[in-house]
Order: sequence, then C-alpha cells, then structure tokens
Amino acid sequence: MQVNKLCELLHIKYPIIQGGMAWISEANLASAVSNAGGLGVIAAGNAEPEWVRSEIKKAQRLTDKPLGVNIMLLSPHAAEVAQVICDEKVDVVITGAGNPGSYINMWREAGIRVVPVVPSVALAKRLEQKGADALICEGMEAGGHIGSLTTMALVPQIVDAVSLPVIAAGGIADSRGFLAALALGATGVQIGTRFLVADECNIHPNYKNKVIKARDRDTVITGTSTGHPIRTLKNKLAREFLRLEKEGASTEDLHKLGEGKLRLAVKEGDMDYGSPMAGQIAALVCKQESVKEIIEDIVGGVPEILSNVMEVIEWEK
Ligand SMILES: Cc1cc2nc3c(=O)[nH]c(=O)nc-3n(C[C@H](O)[C@H](O)[C@H](O)COP(=O)(O)O)c2cc1C
Repeated sequence: MQVNKLCELLHIKYPIIQGGMAWISEANLASAVSNAGGLGVIAAGNAEPEWVRSEIKKAQRLTDKPLGVNIMLLSPHAAEVAQVICDEKVDVVITGAGNPGSYINMWREAGIRVVPVVPSVALAKRLEQKGADALICEGMEAGGHIGSLTTMALVPQIVDAVSLPVIAAGGIADSRGFLAALALGATGVQIGTRFLVADECNIHPNYKNKVIKARDRDTVITGTSTGHPIRTLKNKLAREFLRLEKEGASTEDLHKLGEGKLRLAVKEGDMDYGSPMAGQIAALVCKQESVKEIIEDIVGGVPEILSNVMEVIEWEK
C-alpha cells in the first residue's frame, strides 16, 4: 500500500501540521499534536534563542514523536534560533516571513527537513531549487501574517509548478477543508485557527471565546498599507488601525500601534486593544476540545465526505 508522501517524509501518522503561532504554540500544544499523530510545531516568533531551546527540550520530554520549529526569518534572533534548531536536532524546520535560502544547507546537513511557507509560485520554484523538502502554500484566508492569494487559487498553481509535496494552509478546519486541499493536489494541510481553542493551547480564555463566538465576517485585514498585512478578529484596535491607515498614517506609527498586541491578547486576554489573530474559518470553530479530538474529527470525517462526493459526481454517462 502506498503511504502519503508527507507522512513518509516527516514520519507522522496523519498529514496534519499544527501551524506555528508566535506567543501561542509552545511545548504543550506542539507535543500534544505530535502525540496525536500530526506534526506539532513550536513557534519561535521574535523570542530569545534560549526560550526556543527550552521549549524544544520541554516538548522532547513530552513526546517521542517528530517535532517542528517555526522560525520567523525577520526576527532579530533568526541566526541564533537557526543554530538552536540544529543543536537540538529538531526533526522539521518551518520557515516564515522571508527567504530561508542562506540556512537551508546548514539544516539539511544536520538531517533536518526544511519546509518553507510560500505565498507565491515564484518563491515556491526558487525554494525547490534551493533544496526545500516540501512547501506550505498559505492562502490569505489564514490568521496572522498573510499573502494576497487565496488557498483555492494558490495551491493548485504551486502543485503544478513544483514536484515537491505541497501542504495547504489557510481556511482549513474540518474534514471538508482537509479533503478539498487534497483534491487541489496538496499532500497535507497546516492548521492554525482550529488549534487556538484546543484544551492544550495555553492562550487566555477570552481569546478562545472570541474565536468560538466569531461569525463569518468577523475577521479583518490590517496593515496592508505597511506591506505587512495581518488577519485578526475585529475589535477596537483593528478599527483604530484601519482608521489611521485610511488617514494615511506613517508605517512607523502603525508599527508602534501594532507592536506587542498579539501578546496582549494571548497573555492578558485584552479583546479590545490586543490583536486576537485568527483566520476566516474561525466561524466554523465552535467548541473547545482536546488536540486528539480535533485531529480525530478531521480524519474521521473523511469517508463520509468522500462518499457524499461520489454521490454528487454520479451523473449520466
Ligand atoms: C494567532 C496566529 C499566529 C500565527 N503566527 C505565525 C507565526 O509566528 N509564523 C508563521 O509562519 N505563521 C503563523 N501563523 C499562521 C499559521 O501557522 C497557519 O499557517 C495559519 O493559521 C493557517 O490558516 P488558518 O488560520 O486558517 O488555520 C499564525 C496564525 C495565527 C492564527
């Protein structure tokens, strides 16, 4: 029997990656996802290298399954975190916010799988040439920092342009999204928003409640004028941000306004002036559950959806 290429590459049971989320995905969440058969990912964000090292060690004590680290290449600590990832023999590195070209050889020599997040066909092709092992194609439905194309449009274009395994991200939270991604040619998915409300996710309860209560049009994109758009749930901060952008505020002033606001939502639960980032799919995320329940719900629903699809395509020959 043929095994899913991503499962084979990353030595995981299900082709589901928990998206790295700065301030949010630490050892507890990542190890729970790995124990449940997906790939758990610790997000380095802008954190100090020693924090990243200690979370990796903690997670390695909590699971003997493969683990990933998400490195934010714009971080002032990126070079040191890249080295920590080698030192601690992490299984997979996922790179965001930039071109990881200069680190790829170092990681590959250390036996680490390299999986960059790409928002465009051009970057996907370039990183395939530089030696990436797989690519995450993230559409603008996603929470956090986003590109400009949707998952539906981006994934098949990248699938056609490269021969690496492609992982779809953005707007996927249940079996339907999972199967749709596979139908577009992806071999697996990366999910962020649904894991925000997992029991093992240590964010403030106010943040979890805001995601659970979100409706279809409750997210908004701020920061487009600065070149660093992010998707977040609507609140007073987002409205103020958009007002200032409309009035032509400088990038510097906007950066100052946005600085530290994800942390404020995650740690203090400030839903007015923090930034509770989440994807458009938040409206489908209706209850808090364990990581194991979430993963089993996604993979467990596949046969029924497949049979529904088969029914729909029963037309006259
Ligand atoms: C609160 C939040 C923080 C995020 N932080 C990061 C990050 O630090 N690095 C990164 O590469 N992606 C980050 N992402 C994106 C996720 O890793 C993932 O690709 C995305 O959430 C998938 O789309 P979804 O939200 O529709 O599930 C973040 C997403 C959210 C919701």
